[in-house]
Amino acid sequence: MRKNPVITIAGAGSLRIPALIGSLIYYKETLPVAKIILFDIDEERLQRVRAYIDLTLKEYYSEAEVLFTTKEEEAYGDTDYVLCNMRVGVDTMRSVDEKIPLKYGLVGQETCGPGGFSYGMRSIGAMIDMVNTVRTYSKDTWILNYTNPAAIVAVALDKVFPEDKRIMNICDQPYSMIKSFAKILGEDMYDLEPRYFGLNHFGWFTSLKNAKTGEELLPKLKDYLMGHEFKPFNAEQRDPSWLKTYKNVNKLMQFFPEYVPNTYLQYYFFAEEIVQDSDPSFTRVDEAKLGREKKVLDILKKAETQGNLTDIPLMQGEVFGNLMVEVVDSIHNDLNKVFVVIGRNGDLIPNLPEDAMVELASYLGKEGAKMIPYGEVKPFYKGLIEGQYAYEKLTVESYLEKDYTKALQALTLNRSIVDPVKAKLVLDDLMDHSADYWALEKKEL
Ligand code: G6P
Ligand code: MN
Repeated sequence: MRKNPVITIAGAGSLRIPALIGSLIYYKETLPVAKIILFDIDEERLQRVRAYIDLTLKEYYSEAEVLFTTKEEEAYGDTDYVLCNMRVGVDTMRSVDEKIPLKYGLVGQETCGPGGFSYGMRSIGAMIDMVNTVRTYSKDTWILNYTNPAAIVAVALDKVFPEDKRIMNICDQPYSMIKSFAKILGEDMYDLEPRYFGLNHFGWFTSLKNAKTGEELLPKLKDYLMGHEFKPFNAEQRDPSWLKTYKNVNKLMQFFPEYVPNTYLQYYFFAEEIVQDSDPSFTRVDEAKLGREKKVLDILKKAETQGNLTDIPLMQGEVFGNLMVEVVDSIHNDLNKVFVVIGRNGDLIPNLPEDAMVELASYLGKEGAKMIPYGEVKPFYKGLIEGQYAYEKLTVESYLEKDYTKALQALTLNRSIVDPVKAKLVLDDLMDHSADYWALEKKEL
């Protein structure tokens, strides 16, 4: 491992990457990098971010070498960290994943329910290929995966590469929530140490301590959330659906006030209401295009047209970008800071399956994630997690074994679906729209 690492960003054409570059710049004193490789298999997507990133890095990070490439060999041939953030099928397929389930009165979401299943069936194969390619060049390269649905990808990679200690799956939602908790409590987020358990997009905060004073802040946070709207720390910049999503944490806590639930649990507890509130012709992908993504695209276009950065802000990833860089920093500099990450359960939660990919608070250092043992979870959570984990496992097995029945079982187990009639309808319809990516042999009843 080099002192100043080489970092490859896979899926660099994503509109989240310009802000990640801002985060790399922000952290360049603590984590100076030798080279940044921006890799995307889609030339057009790479081009749309190129001018802005090029100008920005020249201005603020001239000491780092920069390479834009669509070639795997250049991307993975000689690198220390691959930050992987690919979206197989891009927004066209995100739209399919979100809209088809709504036809059947089911949740239309990119990572949860039938949409998450469909996205999973696309991501698994691409991620396995990526790991295989990276490993033809080096066993030591860290693969930090943010590709969604992270829950499914994590189970698949653990099954196919069980001995590989340098793959880590991470999601930014716990980070985003902790940052929001910090604002509510008037604390510095970097002083807060969480305890959390569950699966990805399916977990609960059970403790939040100020690591400097040792004070347990969860009771205070819960009190606040029982009486005030939960807003993300950057509420002014968020699109309306995200504000509603945060607010559903308040609602869920009215029923189950014991812990603070991950925002994504809304899709499993309030599926019916969410479907009723959804517009099948305008889902999150459309909202993001007009909101979050438009803001970024406008800046990218301006940079490209002008050819300089006059009056152009430096974007910084306050959630995704910072998290990715902080994770690399913690591993590279062996900082052993606490992050919530995904990893194999083993006996960390002794009353859950050993092979489940659980999400837990973990120390990150040069040996990877040291997940903090959680202990047993209570029956309510155990029941929920076991059902969801069986869904994840069957999804992965259905992909790897091309097994239609397992796909149907997976979808029926998913709490946002339950009804096998609907599970079959949505499975067949999603499959008809996914022929370029995956296929199972349909079974007629
Ligand atoms: C959160 C989740 C990610 C997801 C993202 C979607 O950050 O943790 O897994 O990709 O939200 O955000 P978007 O703005 O695209 O709906
Ligand atoms: Mn996530």
